[in-house]
Amino acid sequence: MRLYGDLAPWFHLLTAPADYAAEAERYRALIADAVPDAETLLELGSGGGNNASHLKVHFSCTLSDVSPQMLALSRTLNPDCEHVLGDMRTLRLGRTFDAVFVHDAVAYMATEDELRDCLRTAHAHTRPGGVALFVPDHTRETFQPSTSHGGHDGADGRSLRYLEWVTDPDPGDTSYEVDYAVVLRERGQVSRVVHDHHVEGLFPEHTWLHLLEHAGFQPTVDRSAADPDDDTSQTAFVARRPG
Ligand SMILES: C[S@@+](CC[C@H](N)C(=O)[O-])C[C@H]1O[C@@H](n2cnc3c(N)ncnc32)[C@H](O)[C@@H]1O
Repeated sequence: MRLYGDLAPWFHLLTAPADYAAEAERYRALIADAVPDAETLLELGSGGGNNASHLKVHFSCTLSDVSPQMLALSRTLNPDCEHVLGDMRTLRLGRTFDAVFVHDAVAYMATEDELRDCLRTAHAHTRPGGVALFVPDHTRETFQPSTSHGGHDGADGRSLRYLEWVTDPDPGDTSYEVDYAVVLRERGQVSRVVHDHHVEGLFPEHTWLHLLEHAGFQPTVDRSAADPDDDTSQTAFVARRPG
């Protein structure tokens, strides 16, 4: 995926850290409700570190991602956080955290086996009595095909605009597809257009709950909205590890 490879330095112009304040506050509150004294947090698939830039005010954050380029970008935003290279299916740090957080990166678990491996990783890093929080972009129940667009202008003369097109060619399988058409502008240069195609996982709630229980968690579902003005809520799975 080029967005997390050669285009990683552009990621904060695709989606800006400041726009994550409201949702990060929702995740903080869900974690604090489950584990009031939570201090340490591991994020799997932390990407540009956008959520982490808000969560690190409340938790000591360790950020992990499979992309060295995305870790490098996150380090520019979160130099005060530990960064670790690793795949959320196989990462084993040999230590546990009060909370494990997996945001939209969990979408890259496109099969049940991959999702199972990710949940095992989360369990291996959640201390007894701790919590793991999973916030997929969609579940099978909430999924809607859509198009959206956005982008930002940087202070360095670079600008990015994108069109995101979300489709589900086969509603019978566990994946959907996202196409990005991205226009990149740099001062003094002709704009260039990049296409990126992502295959992402889509599972019904009962699959999530079954796999979480099988991994050793006690899961509940939260559908609260991040922003009171927002009438859409994103399903979150709050998975407690028994003490
Ligand atoms: C949309 S970005 C995450 C952005 C993040 N939510 C934030 O707040 O900045 C998705 C990330 O998932 C990462 N990713 C994809 N597959 C992964 C895997 N198997 N293990 C770890 N990270 C993965 C990508 O490298 C990318 O950085």
